[in-house]
Amino acid sequence: LERALKKIDVIRLLLGKQIQNLPVAHPVQAFAPANIALCKYWGKRERELNLPQTSSLSISLGEKGATTQLAVIEAEADVVFLNDVPVPANTEFYRRLVAFLDLFRNKYYFKVTISSNLPIAAGLATSASGFAAVVLALNKLFQWQVPKETLSIFARLGSGSAARSITTGFVEWQAGRLSDGFDSYAVALPLRWETLCVGLLIFNQAAKKIGSRDAMQQTVATSPFYAAWPALVASDLEQLKIAIMDKNLSKMGFIAESNALAMHATMQAARPAIIYSEPATISAMQQIWQMREAGINVFFTQDAGPNLKLLFEESALLDVLQFFSKLEIVRPFSS
Ligand code: PMV
Repeated sequence: LERALKKIDVIRLLLGKQIQNLPVAHPVQAFAPANIALCKYWGKRERELNLPQTSSLSISLGEKGATTQLAVIEAEADVVFLNDVPVPANTEFYRRLVAFLDLFRNKYYFKVTISSNLPIAAGLATSASGFAAVVLALNKLFQWQVPKETLSIFARLGSGSAARSITTGFVEWQAGRLSDGFDSYAVALPLRWETLCVGLLIFNQAAKKIGSRDAMQQTVATSPFYAAWPALVASDLEQLKIAIMDKNLSKMGFIAESNALAMHATMQAARPAIIYSEPATISAMQQIWQMREAGINVFFTQDAGPNLKLLFEESALLDVLQFFSKLEIVRPFSS
């Protein structure tokens, strides 16, 4: 049997001699957008490298995401700030970030300043933008000469969906087939959709009880419905790409909404069950269906948390705001 590659092997193979690069003398800063999957990534085929069972497709959230500053410091450990608050070394957040940085350095310690303009761990893909921004900052610091695909692979090693936060707009993360994951990275779709809006409907900013990492594992291992998921994704993805290319909101929204509900159905059948929805989540879904019956073209998607993300076009904005006045509006193609 072939020995499975470790993260560090992947990085060394892809960076080659560049692993020895000296850092630039000044602090660097990079931004990566959050992304919302319209066809979800749910389940790994390999857990060390975060290799997915299926491809997935997302929309990046424009200016919503994470900014990371990196500076080399004279110290015995990394110093981490999240939204201006020091992150203690005994937290899961600190450990995960430091373990990730360890993969890329030989001897340096960093001051890492991450700021997110989205609620952390509320199913709003903050880990995706966070890891992607760290990779983009490392790329500036060490001046790697690598293609974007490689940066997407590096981000994937931090968190699967981070592979899609390396670029803006619509992004497809191709699952790939190789056991080293060298063909498992994200590619942008060549399309802008200026009138597209994403609305963030946030009911609960609290961190989720079970993270996506464990939840997807539990689903793959115990849900009798998971077997149907890969084939569903294959057909949803194909239809979704056509709908996006046609800028057909109704088609795109319907597929995204159905795909999210199907993902949650696989989780609900896991043993024990995983249910991220709260009463407010279900009420909002019913509200959205009523709005559609009244002719307002709006759809939702939901990730590993109770919050919903709404999909609609600029022309429906005022109608949507009448029902959801506190909605945070994101225009993925505004800049
Ligand atoms: O990359 P992770 O481990 O945060 O998982 C992301 C899972 C979902 O957000 C539910 C789906 C997706 O494709 O983003």
